[in-house]
Amino acid sequence: MLAPNIETDSDLDFHKFGIESLELYPKFASELLEETGIDIELERSGTLCLAFTEAENAELQDTYYRQQSRDVAVELLSSEQLRQLEPSISSDVHAALFYPNDWQVENRKLVAALREFAKRNGIHIIENAEVEGLLIEQRRVVGAKTAACEFRADTTVIATGAWTSLIKIGDTSMPVSIKPIRGQMLSFNHCDGLLRHVVYSHSGYLVPRSDGRILVGATAEDVGFDKTTNAEGIASLRLAAVEILPQLANADADETWAGLRPFAEDGLPVLGEIPDWKNVIVATAHYRNGILLAPKTGEIVADRILDGVESDFLKRFGIGRFETARASVV
Ligand code: GLY
Repeated sequence: MLAPNIETDSDLDFHKFGIESLELYPKFASELLEETGIDIELERSGTLCLAFTEAENAELQDTYYRQQSRDVAVELLSSEQLRQLEPSISSDVHAALFYPNDWQVENRKLVAALREFAKRNGIHIIENAEVEGLLIEQRRVVGAKTAACEFRADTTVIATGAWTSLIKIGDTSMPVSIKPIRGQMLSFNHCDGLLRHVVYSHSGYLVPRSDGRILVGATAEDVGFDKTTNAEGIASLRLAAVEILPQLANADADETWAGLRPFAEDGLPVLGEIPDWKNVIVATAHYRNGILLAPKTGEIVADRILDGVESDFLKRFGIGRFETARASVV
């Protein structure tokens, strides 16, 4: 999902980052289609956020008034209005927020399109080659070393997700702690016509795909580098799905899988230079929003490397913020 108004609303700069990245998607999607012939299925029907209890309803109303005062495109729907939009959603819903400008893309097609783009533009992707360390000359990073060979570069971009803290700069540890947070997922197929919008509740979310699948997500588990699914996680997703769409009660899961989100200690992205090292940029910790924040991240990093442009987001989300926070605690 591309849902800045739900997923990045916790911090004003993060929200701005999410909105600016979302706004790049229409052009990004049409350029990828033109260059690769792959449609990443940018779907703009909007996103719903449901309240099932009085407490959730009160929280929903607070969010509505707060976001309205910040000019977020958001509508407050009664349960009747909600069911006009989505007749199959549970009648237990008290109220809902509708975000017409929160969208979705088919992430697997996005990755396929980016691979194809790389292939057609002389960009080599080398897989299954563990980085043993960065190459250092004085205080400059000049590339990366793998078991097979060394790669030398004018600028090295560390976009290594949940694995970032494992990469050493010479003998020095990465000066930021990024850990994996597992998200288990499942999908149902043959659900054509059951749901039109991406739907969130307190227990999970549903994403209807154009091929008739409904994806259900996601757990958030601090269990290290373990990408397996388990019965408990999948059962919790089933419960969340059936609470939203009771007709899924007897549906068979088509596929289950898990991914590892990269999480920094304040939950915000980590973007920019590594203090005391030259010619290296980190772009990680996008946590729940890697796909949403990808185009803006790419633009900021490319502008910095090619034109020396210092986006405000580099300052806001730079590694230096952790040192400042630690110094003020001491
Ligand atoms: N953005 C959805 C998730 O991380 O589960």
